[in-house]
Order: sequence, then C-alpha cells, then structure tokens
Amino acid sequence: MKATAKALKAEAELADAVRPGQSIELLKELHILTREGRLNQDSRRKLKQVYHLFQFIEKLLRELPGEGAGATLADHGAGKSYLGFIIYDLFFKALGGGHVYGIETRAELVARSKALAKQLGFDRMSFLNLSVAESAHSTELPERIDVVTALHACDTATDDAIAFGLAKNARYMVLVPCCQAELAASLRESKALALSRTPLAELWRHPLHTREIGSQLTNVLRCLLLEAHGYQVTVTELVGWEHSMKNELIIAKRTGHRKASAAQRLRELLAQFGLDALQPTRFPLPEAPQSPEPVATPA
Ligand SMILES: C[S@@+](CC[C@H](N)C(=O)[O-])C[C@H]1O[C@@H](n2cnc3c(N)ncnc32)[C@H](O)[C@@H]1O
Repeated sequence: MKATAKALKAEAELADAVRPGQSIELLKELHILTREGRLNQDSRRKLKQVYHLFQFIEKLLRELPGEGAGATLADHGAGKSYLGFIIYDLFFKALGGGHVYGIETRAELVARSKALAKQLGFDRMSFLNLSVAESAHSTELPERIDVVTALHACDTATDDAIAFGLAKNARYMVLVPCCQAELAASLRESKALALSRTPLAELWRHPLHTREIGSQLTNVLRCLLLEAHGYQVTVTELVGWEHSMKNELIIAKRTGHRKASAAQRLRELLAQFGLDALQPTRFPLPEAPQSPEPVATPA
C-alpha cells in the first residue's frame, strides 16, 4: 500500500515536471530527469523556481506583437541556462521564430550550453561569453531586445541587466536579484557619520542589518530607477520562502511614462542614506523627466 502511494506520488511529480511537447532529452541533459526518466529530487527546487518564472514570462511574451513569435529575449547571468532552455523549449520552439540569448561570464558554461543547443537543434539560441555590462555594447546582440531576464545574476549583474534593458529599450524586464554587496559596502563606510546624523542609521548599525538593508534598499532604488525611466513596476515573491531566500521578483513593463516623482524619490533616498556618490554611475536618471506628480502608494 505504502509502495503504491509512493509510486503514485512520484508519477504525479513527474507529470508536473514534464509539460506537453517538452523535450525529454533536454530535461535529462539539465539533470532535471535522471537517465531512467525519473524526476531528479535534487533539481526539484530549481525546476519549481524556473517553471514559476516561466509562467510570468510566457504571459509577457504573449503580449508582444505577433504573440511573441518574433521576440528577442536576453537572459543575463545565465549559468547553465536552465531558464533560457526552458523558455525556448516551451515557448519559442513551436513558434518557429524568436531568439534567446544567454549571457554568461563562465566560459565552460557557455560552451556547454552551445553544445546542448546544437545537440537539441535549438538553433535560435545563442550563448555569449560576455559580462552583462559588455553585452550592452556587443555587436553579437541585436539592437532590439524585447525581454530581459536575470535570475539570481550575482550582485551588481542585476544592475547591469537593468542598464542593458534601458539601453535596448526592452519592453519587459523580469528580475530576481541575487545577493547584493555594493550598497552595503557604501553604507558600512559612512556608518559612523550616519549614526551621528540620524537615528535612522540604527537600521544598519549591526553588520547583519547593514547587509539586509543594503539588499532591500538596492531593490527599492532599482524599482525607482525603472519607474523614472518609464517602466511600470510590480514586486512580488517568486515562490515560497522555503524554496529560496533570494525570492524577490521584479517585473518591469515599459509604458514610456517617466515618473519624475520616482527620480526625485531616488535622489532623496540616496541622500538620506549618504549614497549620493552612487547616483551617476549606478542609478543614472533620464535627462528630462516629465513634470512632477504625487508619489503613489501601492494598494
Ligand atoms: C547564481 S548563478 C544563477 C544562474 C542562473 N541564472 C540560474 O538561476 O540558474 C549566477 C550566474 O551569473 C554569472 N555572472 C555573475 N556575474 C556576471 C556578470 N557580471 N555577467 C555575466 N554573468 C555573470 C555567474 O557566473 C553565474 O553563472
């Protein structure tokens, strides 16, 4: 009886993992399935994250002209390119159009992804051994990129992905930030001065809090930056916290409405935290923001 229940559970999990039309060969190569075609328990967490993210991305792709058939998507900090491969397999493969670009600094991962794409005949996938920052100026990428994704791209690679999306005038950016160290380091440097200036500095007096608030503040500033550049931003949880501690999902949709209030709030926040020096490089604002409007409170 117990054995039957276990077998049924395994079958249900497998059915959940393999979508109609999906390449079994891909799932095996990504070690999502074992060689025998069973679900690899170690990959379940990653798979859940990637599928969950795919649901959001698929919806956005379908909103593009031609329901996304000719869309270009760049995945930054691609790693083993789980996300890019799953998007291609479940969305672009059947459409016969569109292109996925994977950007990754680790040459061996890029080589592996290239070989896998060739083996599977996924010929509208390219993998580029570039940093995210370099990719914004690379001639190996097209002028137009519709969707930018960055799943746990390390530290400031998420900021570079945002800069890339802004440079490419991307329609959508889907970001799940990773650990963040840059801002915390700046907060640490000016901590003594901040503590003498404002009781707010208690929020980052202890090293653990410096790291946490650095990370939180970075994401808040990223959202304001996107709004200032004409994107509508939503922030949610990717999957339950039991699956990952780095779980914040930022989805930005280009509306073209540059919020002057967001630019103003960004500057004010940087000043409050003694981080003005980061503004020109990390949080560059558009030159001519539109007229100020009140800061909206999210519902
Ligand atoms: C935590 S892994 C995430 C990989 C993948 N997105 C995933 O979720 O499975 C981060 C990846 O980003 C790459 N990376 C880090 N900084 C980068 C940068 N500046 N440009 C391109 N890739 C970067 C790392 O080599 C690593 O493979």
